Amino acid sequence: MAPKIPVIIDCDPGHDDALALIMALASDKLDVRAVTVTGGNQTLAKTLNNAKRILSYIGKRPLLARGADKPMFRELTIAPQVHGDSGLDGPVIPQADYPVEPLPAVDLMRRIIAESPAPVTLLATGPLTNLGILLTAYPEVRSQVGRISLMGGGLGGGNWTSAAEFNILVDPEAAAIVFSSGLPITMCPVDVTHKAMIMRSEVEALRAQGGRVSVFAAELIDFFFKFHTAQGFPGAPLHDPCAAAWLIAPELFTVQDLSVTVETRGEHTTGMTLADRRPWSGAKPNVSVCLDVKREELIRLLARCCAAYGD
Ligand code: BDR
Ligand code: CA
Repeated sequence: MAPKIPVIIDCDPGHDDALALIMALASDKLDVRAVTVTGGNQTLAKTLNNAKRILSYIGKRPLLARGADKPMFRELTIAPQVHGDSGLDGPVIPQADYPVEPLPAVDLMRRIIAESPAPVTLLATGPLTNLGILLTAYPEVRSQVGRISLMGGGLGGGNWTSAAEFNILVDPEAAAIVFSSGLPITMCPVDVTHKAMIMRSEVEALRAQGGRVSVFAAELIDFFFKFHTAQGFPGAPLHDPCAAAWLIAPELFTVQDLSVTVETRGEHTTGMTLADRRPWSGAKPNVSVCLDVKREELIRLLARCCAAYGD
């Protein structure tokens, strides 16, 4: 069997972040060295508390570190309308006494990356603030970062504004640093995550397979479902799980290499991820963009990852 890929998960949990954590921590292909948290879906205090509760509930013990409480140059925008007041409304999850590392997120990332014999992959499912700070403060880490797999952006429009997706819009300057870093990046924009829709009958099948993590995942999706179906979606988009799934089963995705830049100063377009799709432009691709997904196989992968936790 191939050696496990060392991974740091940077997230803002968040219902779909919780699902991405469940998947990544279940996979025998990934060695999750740490979870780092940023403000995003809710304030940092709440997303960190949610990370503690999720990790305790699913019984995994990666290192956990506190990251940025606001974007690099802006005030924080949060998403209570999607994730509730706690950032993880819906399932009843006990408070947890989970240890938080004394080192700030970027310093823990730097240490793990420096000490790892193999290149470390960064799985980012929130605003890219921690990664932007890491690459600015410690540019030398780039030689030991294997890839960034991120959920964010949209080539054909956004979800938070007509131009921008939430994670990129919250901290476009950090996103611009990441996208122009020269590091290998795989991006799951809303173009693919809106195809990664889980339907009601599939949520019920997940619940019915039993096991505390499967039931927990179904309850997370129940809450996420309400917001999205009220918006006219036929189900709940599995945004962040796509970025985790690409690491576990890249064959589920159709990918195109493109040159993608982040708009930071647009009057109407701040946070837009602009892809140059002109074959004649000569623009050098900097991002592998996931554009399609084998939806049913993704749902089966999620169910298998949940089942791996047992009863
Ligand atoms: C992204 O925004 C957040 O609300 C989700 O957790 C996901 O990371 C989708 O736009
Ligand atoms: Ca997220």
